[in-house]
Amino acid sequence: MPRLFLQTYGCQMNEHDSLKIASLMRSEGYELTEDPSQADCIILHTCSIRKKPEHKVYSFLGRLKHLKQKRPDLVIGIGGCVAQQEGKRLLERASHLDFVFGTHQIHRVPELVRRSRDKRERFCEVGFAADPPSLHLCPGPAPHQVKAYLTIMQGCDNFCAYCIVPYVRGRERSRPPEEILREARDLARKGVREVTLLGQNVNSYGRGLSGYPTFPQLLEMLHDVEGIWRIRFTTSHPKDLSVELVETMARLPKVCEHLHLPVQSGSTAVLERMRRGYTREEYLERVRLLRRFIPQISLSTDIIVGFPGEEEDDFLQTLSLLEEVQYDGIYSFKFSPRPGTAAARITDTVAEEVKAERLARVQDLQGSITEAILKRSEGAVEEVLVEGPSPKGKGQVTGRTRTNRIVHFPGDPELLKGRLVHVRIVRGLKNSLLGQCVEEGAGM
Ligand code: 5AD
Ligand code: SF4
Repeated sequence: MPRLFLQTYGCQMNEHDSLKIASLMRSEGYELTEDPSQADCIILHTCSIRKKPEHKVYSFLGRLKHLKQKRPDLVIGIGGCVAQQEGKRLLERASHLDFVFGTHQIHRVPELVRRSRDKRERFCEVGFAADPPSLHLCPGPAPHQVKAYLTIMQGCDNFCAYCIVPYVRGRERSRPPEEILREARDLARKGVREVTLLGQNVNSYGRGLSGYPTFPQLLEMLHDVEGIWRIRFTTSHPKDLSVELVETMARLPKVCEHLHLPVQSGSTAVLERMRRGYTREEYLERVRLLRRFIPQISLSTDIIVGFPGEEEDDFLQTLSLLEEVQYDGIYSFKFSPRPGTAAARITDTVAEEVKAERLARVQDLQGSITEAILKRSEGAVEEVLVEGPSPKGKGQVTGRTRTNRIVHFPGDPELLKGRLVHVRIVRGLKNSLLGQCVEEGAGM
């Protein structure tokens, strides 16, 4: 059986697309290997959202040169956002690279691997399609999987000034609702209990498409799928978070009380230069709306520090926003100029040391906020969906609360995996909770 080594960089969307590639290649007769030196085919599925993941791709690609020299039959392909961005330049840069495929071409990977292997050609396929067949692929869950992602849309039309996504993933495109429902039912039949709906901007699902439901209506439709107990979604754009959506989240019991709502900066001036489409006050207004309808909701966010022109005062507003909102957790990044984006054309005025120092301050502050929130949850009884054995050790299982907090507690993974149980929180740690099972809820 030929072997595939698949290396993925970047976000959940990429991870999920990699599952689709793996599933297509399995149907082609390949098995996955963890060891590139054992592989007949190596695929790098790349991310270019910031410089750092992009550099990792180049350094890994460089290390593959000696493998190709030893075994000229090895097929090496590179896909994802770096491939879309760089195209043919990658073939010029790395003579041991066989082919490049774009973000709308993943459905063709088996065919491209065959072409490279049989014809010994080097080529680049990075065309965009109005209706990319890749959007319609279903990877299917891994055996015994409790949670799964489900793509509902791809691409983005927002063009935030710093972001490369609209250039490398193309325009926003929603997947037909009947296809989404079919995949959800299939996941449920295979034992999946929690789905996370994926899209760059899920709130604008179906926008401008006649016959498509709105995102809240899609949630209602998915809510009826038997066997699915929990629904989450990511990512939401604050400017598109409607009252209708918040009201729907509050009303539908399967929709979990957690929302990832990227703010990026706490300064209205910076937000305006980022072209985010909301002010600090408007963002906070939406947070108040969420908490009014769903008092127990937990929130998480993305922060960029050192956007061009960010002054100390702007940065202090980001810190004060973190204090005010009390996020459960944040993902924070130093601004990284990306080729072709509007922000890359502004002279990058914030020095690297200042960015690093601001990043450390933001992470420090958030660390203490997260810890305090987790401490405050001690004593509460939470519904937990058990995902499997805990890394904390034998006889321990791990799962998540509806608010997306990780809980470890004593239990038998064989018995509890895939079950909903009630757990009393006994201790809040830095990033997770320790608990004790008090009673079992719904089971399988
Ligand atoms: N520099 C730094 N962070 C970025 N992000 C997107 N583009 C950039 C960039 N050029 C971050 C944003 C986004 C997350 C996925 O990545 O915070 O929400
Ligand atoms: Fe990038 Fe903005 Fe689209 Fe998110 S909404 S993918 S940050 S352009």
